[in-house]
Amino acid sequence: MVTWEQLQAMCGQCQKCSLADTRHNVVFGDGNPNADIMFVGEGPGEQEDLTGIPFVGAAGQLLDQMLAIIDLDRTQYYIVNIVKCRPPRNRDPQNIEQDACIPYLRAQVRLVRPKMIVCLGRIAAQRLIDPSYRITREHGQWVQKGQFWMTAIYHPSALLRDVNKRPETFDDLIGIREKIKELSPETYQEATAAKQS
Ligand code: URA
Repeated sequence: MVTWEQLQAMCGQCQKCSLADTRHNVVFGDGNPNADIMFVGEGPGEQEDLTGIPFVGAAGQLLDQMLAIIDLDRTQYYIVNIVKCRPPRNRDPQNIEQDACIPYLRAQVRLVRPKMIVCLGRIAAQRLIDPSYRITREHGQWVQKGQFWMTAIYHPSALLRDVNKRPETFDDLIGIREKIKELSPETYQEATAAKQS
C-alpha cells in the first residue's frame, strides 16, 4: 500500500487529465488523517485552487459553520474532493476527469479507514453511493456499503444559493451527530469536550 507521502507526491505530479493544464495547485485533502469520518466534495473552486486547501472559499466557510453546529472541526474529520484539480469556471467535473482522479481518493480512503463517509452534493453521492442517487429525495439517509456507513447532504454551494434547503440540512447534521455518537463515541466525546473547554 502506498504511504501518504508517496500518494501526495503522485498527486502533485499528476497529468492524468486536462485539469492539470489549468490548475495552480493540486488540492490533496485536509484534516485528521486518522479520522472516523470523511467528507467528500466535488472539486476545488478558485480559492481552493489558489491555496491548495479544500473548502476554504465561501462554500467552505458555510460548511465550517454548519459543522460547528454539531461541534466538528477539521481535527475530527478528513475532507477531500472527487477531483483534486479545479474544473475551469467551476463546471461539474466530467466523468473522464473523475475516472482519472478516483484512484487517488480510494487510496486516501484506504489510508484513513473512516467508519463514515458524508458526500457533499450530488456529484459525490452519485459517484460514491449510487449512480442514480437523487439528492433531493435521499439526502440524510444512511446506507451501509462494505465497511462504510455513507450518507449525502446538500452541497454548501447549493445552500448558499437556496436558503430554503437549510432546515433540511440542519436535520441531516443532527443525523450525522447521532451516527458519530453510535459509531465513534471517541469522536463524539472529543467534539463535546472541545466545545466545553
Ligand atoms: N466545492 C467543492 O466541492 N470542493 C471544494 O473544495 C470547494 C468547493
